[in-house]
Amino acid sequence: MRGGTIQCRRFAATLAYISRPRTVFIIILAIKPTDMVDPVCLEVFGSMPRQGPGDLAATTRAFAGLKDLPASPTILDAGCGTGAQTFDLASICPAAKIVAADLNQDFINMLRERVIADKGMIGRIKPVCSDMLKLGFIGDKSIDVIWSEGAAYTVGVVKALSVWKRILRDGGGYVVVSDCVWFTKDPPTEIKAVWEKGYPEMKRMEDRAMDVIAAGYELLDSFRLPAESWWKSYYTPMAGQVEKFRTKYKGNAKVQTALDGMVGEIELFRKFSDHFGYAYYIMRKKE
Ligand SMILES: C[S@@+](CC[C@H](N)C(=O)[O-])C[C@H]1O[C@@H](n2cnc3c(N)ncnc32)[C@H](O)[C@@H]1O
Repeated sequence: MRGGTIQCRRFAATLAYISRPRTVFIIILAIKPTDMVDPVCLEVFGSMPRQGPGDLAATTRAFAGLKDLPASPTILDAGCGTGAQTFDLASICPAAKIVAADLNQDFINMLRERVIADKGMIGRIKPVCSDMLKLGFIGDKSIDVIWSEGAAYTVGVVKALSVWKRILRDGGGYVVVSDCVWFTKDPPTEIKAVWEKGYPEMKRMEDRAMDVIAAGYELLDSFRLPAESWWKSYYTPMAGQVEKFRTKYKGNAKVQTALDGMVGEIELFRKFSDHFGYAYYIMRKKE
């Protein structure tokens, strides 16, 4: 899924759709899942180790940028998916208490099962089905770190940075986001056109850094996610799932088209990964 990838963005649009008022939800449920493409996206992405590009090395590097954290920090993982980076954060910072929030109830259910299976995580990771912008259940200035890998784009990075300020602690509230950005000034038209549709708000890496500063944060560090991480943690598992689902949904033209889309996206990355990718931004709220 994109949290920066194209299929991911389609998936996020689906989520926005199903989280509309109940009447709309019922209409969608009336359609047979096998006739729909988007439930297949859910199935494919839910069965992957993570729903967006990223890995333990990047999470570890970003976490190392957070200085002077309390002994037992409170972390909000916003748009946690099935919890890949949630568990990584829990291993990097064993004393942390993590609220893992995602709009997708299925993902939260999967994460909850993982937490229950790993008894050491009960009480340390709290999965919550919630919009990352509607965090009324979290008190003002109560969070030490907001972590959001490949997810803030769904609501707009700038908007998220603004809304999240309320819950961040004064004098040391940190935010880490990863976002899909351009690495080159003038990317080839072929890939530019794709992303103009998929993520119109996508920016150059340095321009996204300017957004962070303009939003009232001190930018402590930023770095690129290496292309190898995309392959290892994201596109290779995705390619495996595509093959599996090709067989499962043989004869279903809509699904096959969706799977073609995933293969197309992988090929675009193979061709153009010098021009775009994920960047991590490590920042601290200014007083
Ligand atoms: C690209 S996935 C990244 C998931 C996870 N962070 C990872 O890297 O594996 C984006 C996630 O954002 C979630 N999401 C989309 N809109 C959201 C919202 N408004 N509030 C909370 N989560 C949202 C999706 O359900 C999805 O799990």
